[in-house]
Amino acid sequence: MIKKSKIIVTGGLGFIGSHTVAELHAQGFEVIIVDDLSNSSINVLNGLEKITKTKLIFEKMDLKNKSLVKKLFIKYHDISGVIHFAASKAVGESVIDPLKYYENNLITLINLLKEINSLKTKISFIFSSSCTVYGQAKKLPIKEDEKIKQAESPYGNTKQICEEIIQDTCKTSKNLKAISLRYFNPIGAHPSNEIGELPIGKPQNLVPFITQTAIGKHKELTVFGNDYPTIDGTCVRDYIHVVDLAKAHIQSIKRLIENKTVSNYDFFNVGTGKGSSVLEVITSFEKVSNIKLNYKIGPRRNGDVNEAYADTQKANNVLDWKSELSLDQAILSAWNWERKIQNI
Ligand code: UD1
Repeated sequence: MIKKSKIIVTGGLGFIGSHTVAELHAQGFEVIIVDDLSNSSINVLNGLEKITKTKLIFEKMDLKNKSLVKKLFIKYHDISGVIHFAASKAVGESVIDPLKYYENNLITLINLLKEINSLKTKISFIFSSSCTVYGQAKKLPIKEDEKIKQAESPYGNTKQICEEIIQDTCKTSKNLKAISLRYFNPIGAHPSNEIGELPIGKPQNLVPFITQTAIGKHKELTVFGNDYPTIDGTCVRDYIHVVDLAKAHIQSIKRLIENKTVSNYDFFNVGTGKGSSVLEVITSFEKVSNIKLNYKIGPRRNGDVNEAYADTQKANNVLDWKSELSLDQAILSAWNWERKIQNI
């Protein structure tokens, strides 16, 4: 029964969305990709079609448009689930333009949930959340029951509010079951080298900045601070291979479709459980690429937490999911991808 399940993937041409589409297809799901291309490229669809050797269904649309969302659910009334990635995700931009973030990230979710609520069939819903909801956690590794503090940015706040909206909706909805996945730091690219991360403009995240520096797009990388109370003074994060992360979505949607959940709403950390410092990431890059990276130590970046890595026991036990790929494997795949796209 699962084999034929149809799933709408919003933001399906984005970084995590596209890797999840590939994984869903590999597991026998039929996928409807929805994306407005505001922060993604149509070339990703070509990459996915090469991986899946299939003509994929793609709907270019803006989920803020209520009537379009209505039409989407009329057209694909026989879906089993929705995996909702579509959202704005730049922390810095969200501070400068908070209303863009509240509009993009909240309205799209509300439009989707309203339509789902009006359906007669059961719908399984997966939401892209973030470890950013924890801020600087009191206890490490971070467990799901860590107290949620006031968000550090409008972006982080949208993730908190969206989780609350979903939880509240699940309490009364007759047909909705949902899981929020709180991602730690996704990196890497698909083993086919057909899809990967495509940052628009100057990347803010560490790994794309490392690979772009090594390929010659930037003179040097600045390590944001080496005076943190960590193993080597640089910040510690939980870097997870995007393919492992994509697989967590498959486990989650299967759990919902197969009715294995006790409650209508649940949330999970998705990380490796292992923290790596910025310098450890650089060392890993230098090892797998055989390139000496040009970097300097600079001041701290505003808003960075010292250390964040996941306690993954809940996901391991309940979702029967565990990350399998190493930091070196993730970084090598990111480097292979960077070398491939250097002329784009
Ligand atoms: C960032 C976002 C977070 C989002 C996550 C996933 C911020 C404050 N947080 O997390 O909300 O969920 O991405 O995409 O933007 N670093 C450098 N030099 C660089 C870039 C980064 O030293 O040029 C360091 C940072 O200080 C940090 C680590 O590398 O310690 C990772 O940074 P980044 O990749 O931006 O991820 P986060 O800050 O963890």
